[in-house]
Amino acid sequence: MVLFHELAESRRSCRSYSDDPIERKDLEKCVDTALLAPSACNAQPWKFIIVDDPATVKKVASTFPKTPGSLNSFASGARVFAAIVSEKQKFIPWIGGKLSGKNFREMDLGLAAGHFVLEARELGIGTCIIGWFDEKKIKQVLGVPRNRSVRLLISLGYPGNESLNPQPRRLKDKRETVGDNRY
Ligand SMILES: Cc1cc2nc3c(=O)[nH]c(=O)nc-3n(C[C@H](O)[C@H](O)[C@H](O)COP(=O)(O)O)c2cc1C
Repeated sequence: MVLFHELAESRRSCRSYSDDPIERKDLEKCVDTALLAPSACNAQPWKFIIVDDPATVKKVASTFPKTPGSLNSFASGARVFAAIVSEKQKFIPWIGGKLSGKNFREMDLGLAAGHFVLEARELGIGTCIIGWFDEKKIKQVLGVPRNRSVRLLISLGYPGNESLNPQPRRLKDKRETVGDNRY
């Protein structure tokens, strides 16, 4: 069994994918875990669209520029995409957010995305959270209503040949990232 710390430590954004298909049950497990994420007032303001139909994957992938070096061109190699749609805000978390000056819905979606990618990691599936994409085109391809927005995409696939590029974490000088009883 992989312990949680090990799981979190070994998850890295994966931007190169093999051609191996991902089983539907594994995709469902990623979603099921994401659906367990906490959310402000338990609003669960999300809808996950799993895109594994090859023709639709192709359409989503075609919204990313394919020129090497272009932002997120790697996504055109993904086997599957998950789109996280921001659903209508319920009154209590909305007013709570307004009063506290915070966007709880965005936080909720980020937490759910975190659960999703860690579950994928446990299953050996590579993922990359993508925040930069042409939302208008993605909405068109996926039939997302005008009054909803796609906040994040997650590209998925079993890791390809390219090695993962570990991004350093600010772990050493804890004074920068962790307050000991005060800022
Ligand atoms: C909200 C969010 C948006 C992101 N958007 C992108 C993106 O558009 N393209 C990309 O390649 N990576 C994107 N990433 C991945 C980050 O670059 C990556 O998580 C970070 O550099 C740390 O690297 P690691 O995931 O390998 O640990 C995003 C991550 C988050 C959490």
